Amino acid sequence: MSQTAPLLLSVIVPTFNERDNIAEIVRRLEATLPPQSWEVIFVDDASPDGTAAGVRALARTDRRVRLISRHDRRGLSSAVVEGVLAAAADIVAVMDGDLQHDESVLPGMVEQVRTGRADLVAASRFLSPDGADGLSSDARLAISTSGIRLANAVFGLDMSDPLTGFFVVRRDVVERALPELSGLGFKILLDIITSSHPRPRVVEVPFRFRARQHGESKLDKRVMYDFFLFFLEKKVSRFIPVPARFISFAMINAIGILVHLAAFVPLAGGLGFARAQLVATLIAMAFNYTVNNEVTYSDRKLRGGKFYVGFVIFAVLCSLGVVANVGVASMLHQGYPGLVALLPAAAGAFVTVVWNYVATHVFVWGRGRLAQRLRIALSRLVGQG
Ligand code: GDD
Ligand code: MN
Repeated sequence: MSQTAPLLLSVIVPTFNERDNIAEIVRRLEATLPPQSWEVIFVDDASPDGTAAGVRALARTDRRVRLISRHDRRGLSSAVVEGVLAAAADIVAVMDGDLQHDESVLPGMVEQVRTGRADLVAASRFLSPDGADGLSSDARLAISTSGIRLANAVFGLDMSDPLTGFFVVRRDVVERALPELSGLGFKILLDIITSSHPRPRVVEVPFRFRARQHGESKLDKRVMYDFFLFFLEKKVSRFIPVPARFISFAMINAIGILVHLAAFVPLAGGLGFARAQLVATLIAMAFNYTVNNEVTYSDRKLRGGKFYVGFVIFAVLCSLGVVANVGVASMLHQGYPGLVALLPAAAGAFVTVVWNYVATHVFVWGRGRLAQRLRIALSRLVGQG
């Protein structure tokens, strides 16, 4: 028989560059939670500041501290899900790693879940008058407020803070939601609630969102687009069975066409048609690649040397896409001479965007072995040349 009391709570803390906050979090949990009733799992995405090493150092002398270290992906939601899956306790708490979440409300939240009064207890920044003090700017507050209205309306909820990153839930609630979880972005609470059937019984409690002490917010700039992708995944992909990433990719490509035209017009005068078209194509490709790398594939973003290698592969694959485009369009045009020429042209363009998406999904941003080998081989080639 073990001599220690049973574990009641696993605290999941996603981290990216939170080295200076780790020890303080553990200290605060220790001061707040009953001894021996908890563990804390930090889920770190290879933070350059050495957060993982910091967690390991603590974990060597404190068995309540655990680390999940990921090297090939990024993202708050997926980090939380992996932490929950690794939890030993039946009840899990999800909390930011920057001390903005006030741990003193945890015991009460856990108690409500433990006694079955709720399946999920969310800590809300908007239930007390000064609760949202820690929101970094007025702009951020405005974005949050409209995001909340939108989230409630779209998903049929009535919560004061459906986007909070601070909540306690039974582990099995998350496990049952797994098949439908989007895992993209950082709307993990919303993701869990809307992926569970029946929906969990949710209770909200107020807490005061503190200002950040060390490090900086990683979400500020991406909030809106992130929400948009999540919306696509949850609402659109259910009816049109295409991934949200494809819709995002296609939209950015559509903007890329405008970029192409905007570049072509001024160039055509000096360079002549063919050269201007070539340069405009390259500019549009660079635009598509960079923006998709930034937003569509933010969780697998290629950086440093890999960024350039990725662009070479991207450009080659998209050039094949142009060949497919012309092929399909002319085939249709010749096969069905009665068709308005616009239709074969549109079909060609559609084939191209599908090809570009699938091919780059696998070979540029893919994590399969073949894609990784291709990238390594190419960077060696470039490195030697
Ligand atoms: N593992 C991992 N991977 N952790 C991440 C990542 C990532 O890609 N991005 C952010 N984190 C961690 C941060 O280190 C921090 O512990 C926590 O997730 C929240 O990130 P912040 O960058 O501090 O977010 P915020 O304070 O701007 O956003 C707050 O409000 C959001 C809603 O508007 C947080 O409470 C979020 O949880 C919440 O969704
Ligand atoms: Mn924060």
